[in-house]
Amino acid sequence: MQAAVFNETHQPLTIETRENRSPASGEVVVEIRAAGLNRRDYWITQGLYPDIRCPVVLGSDGAGVVSQLGENVDPDWLGREVVLTPSLGWGPNPEAQGPDFNILGMPRDGTFATEITISAMQLHAKPSHLTFEQAAALPLAGLTAYRALFTQGGAAEGQRILITGAGGGVATFAILFAKVIGAETLVTSSSSLKIDRAKQLGARVGYNYKDADWTEQLQSDGGPVDLVIDGAGGAGLNQLLDILKPGGHLVSYGSTTGPVPKLDIFKIFWKQLHIIGCTMGSPDDFNKMLGLVNDHQITPVIDQTFDLADVNDALATLAGGEHFGNVVLLNL
Ligand SMILES: NC(=O)c1ccc[n+]([C@@H]2O[C@H](COP(=O)([O-])OP(=O)(O)OC[C@H]3O[C@@H](n4cnc5c(N)ncnc54)[C@H](OP(=O)(O)O)[C@@H]3O)[C@@H](O)[C@H]2O)c1
Repeated sequence: MQAAVFNETHQPLTIETRENRSPASGEVVVEIRAAGLNRRDYWITQGLYPDIRCPVVLGSDGAGVVSQLGENVDPDWLGREVVLTPSLGWGPNPEAQGPDFNILGMPRDGTFATEITISAMQLHAKPSHLTFEQAAALPLAGLTAYRALFTQGGAAEGQRILITGAGGGVATFAILFAKVIGAETLVTSSSSLKIDRAKQLGARVGYNYKDADWTEQLQSDGGPVDLVIDGAGGAGLNQLLDILKPGGHLVSYGSTTGPVPKLDIFKIFWKQLHIIGCTMGSPDDFNKMLGLVNDHQITPVIDQTFDLADVNDALATLAGGEHFGNVVLLNL
């Protein structure tokens, strides 16, 4: 099989020919037809991720066809079109992952390859309305958006919900999911083009987070919000505390812009705010996310596709930050 291998930080991934591992009991081989990228893949190449190990095949997201079965696997899986859950070893507690939790694509070999050998427990039927490319965008970002909005954020019909960084892979799913439950969705972005795209997906209004007065614009346009879904962190987080209603919720799933300097703790206790963390999601979250996608025929937003051989260009696209939605490797 061909695989994009991470051997060293700050170096391009190399395309290598490898022997694929035969499936052990309970495992299957999946021919990967499309693999989605996530910012995690880029952070790893830059050495900006905990417990970096190499060499390893990167890639948390994949969709493909089951081509071989190990022993003790339901024979019905053979030939099925599937998506893979990237959350491994979540553990028994729905509130948080346990000590064995890890993410497909480091330390275990991931989906940037023509084949993967993986536990049958990670298989889910590919939503039939999606192409492989669309399905490959779904797992990690869709799961995170689902858990952030619903499991952690308690999003509900009629709420005013702000989703930051509208162009991000997770953010575009959050916009799509918030729309189908009938929430009023607001977004921030660095780009008016991305705000327009977000409106096409269902956002009512958007603000450029580079405008010094964007929070005042939001306040004068309907007042504070019930829920913020944020993956940016950094200095902007204190502004997000300003635009929450008293008793409001902020779910943090990332820190693209780094740590929060001078966290304004006064606002948190005085306004009785709920600040909630979110990392990916449990098997139950994944099932519910797929249910929502199937029930509402939700289609992920693909920014660009690349061949596996051009994986480094795909990573550079993600790093450049011009993308809207997900970047996917195709024709593996
Ligand atoms: N906890 C988890 O399980 C989990 C899962 C997935 C991702 N993450 C993390 O969440 C973050 C987003 O992931 P992703 O895959 O969606 O990344 P992505 O597709 O690369 O998107 C990053 C987005 O960050 C936005 N951004 C940059 N600076 C911002 C600022 N000052 N304020 C608001 N938004 C800003 C940009 O939005 P615009 O382009 O619209 O300006 C950009 O689209 C990353 O840090 C990632 O590591 C965590």
